[in-house]
Amino acid sequence: MITKRLKNDADGINSAAEILKNGGIVAIPTETVYGLAASAFDDEAIKKIFIAKGRPQDNPLIVHISDLKMLGSVAEDIPDIAFLCAEKFWPGPLTLVLKKSRNICKTVSGGLDTVAVRMPSDKTAQEIIRVSNLPLAAPSANTSGLPSPTSYTHVINDMDTKIDAVVTAGDCKFGVESTVVTLYTDPPRLLRPGAVTAEQLRTIIPNLQIDPAVLKEPEKDEKVSSPGMKYKHYSPKTDVFLVEGDTLSFVNFVNRKQNAAAICFDEDENILVPHFSYGSKDNELSLAHNIFSILRKIDDYGFSAAYVHAPQKSGVGLAVYNRLIRAAGFKVITL
Ligand code: TXA
Ligand code: MG
Repeated sequence: MITKRLKNDADGINSAAEILKNGGIVAIPTETVYGLAASAFDDEAIKKIFIAKGRPQDNPLIVHISDLKMLGSVAEDIPDIAFLCAEKFWPGPLTLVLKKSRNICKTVSGGLDTVAVRMPSDKTAQEIIRVSNLPLAAPSANTSGLPSPTSYTHVINDMDTKIDAVVTAGDCKFGVESTVVTLYTDPPRLLRPGAVTAEQLRTIIPNLQIDPAVLKEPEKDEKVSSPGMKYKHYSPKTDVFLVEGDTLSFVNFVNRKQNAAAICFDEDENILVPHFSYGSKDNELSLAHNIFSILRKIDDYGFSAAYVHAPQKSGVGLAVYNRLIRAAGFKVITL
């Protein structure tokens, strides 16, 4: 199949909407990562997403809406707290897990009773949903297991010839996927950290719990609340290790390594091995913005290993840590 390149102008958006209405699949920009979209009401179209990504069937998709009217067509019995969250954080990088409506097809929800919903703030994403007048189910537009795509070239590397079109735009603002919170459990639980932080969420949901799977490897056959958490994720081919320690210990540690790269902070000076800074340790948004792109880039060099200086486990740092510990297959070195 020829994958069309569409611009993020009115013509491109109209063409994308037309393809989606006709059961096609289109990669679209969002403020978090690029998504691979199809109508949430079209089972056959959704199946194509799973095939293009090589995604396990039981891993459900997030449904993207452009306004609160659409929420009623995808979810039921919506609790008041959902509207409070929507008022504060939508449009933006927050996904809410709610009771699913009958309209949502089984392949979207992976057989669960719930549906994950978010309203993106990216203008192109909003327009594509609005013009197609469809809630769009969209996982990240990467091959399953690889780092999520934060630029359209990442999407083309993974998806060219496998999908109908890609809407090309700039690099994604946040660079890590949305925060996922389930409001279907009591108390509500943070299933995946993102740019909307646990600290911010607690201003609205004081009893929010953090799912243990955010920071630890699920046991074999353990039942996890968010099926995506049990799969290997975000991993480049290079063997990644997450390293916790202060600047001096990190620099001394990586300088003893051979044929290895360091993924470090701007503050980590005097590193003698090849190194890639993903931002200042105090600017967690920059770390989030850059990390997936660097994880993809290191594969071009053939290093035997990459050692990543671990961010703090709070604020947006928690989201970056959560992705890195998975990229590292839970191999953490504490100095
Ligand atoms: O920022 C994002 O959320 C991006 C952009 C494209 O919007 N999308 C994204 O989708 O990251 P995906 O499919 O790569 O990740 C969705 C996550 C998975 O971990 C999945 O298991 C979880 O959300 N999820 C989806 N539906 C769920 C549900 N009903 N209950 C619990 N977890 C759910
Ligand atoms: Mg993903």
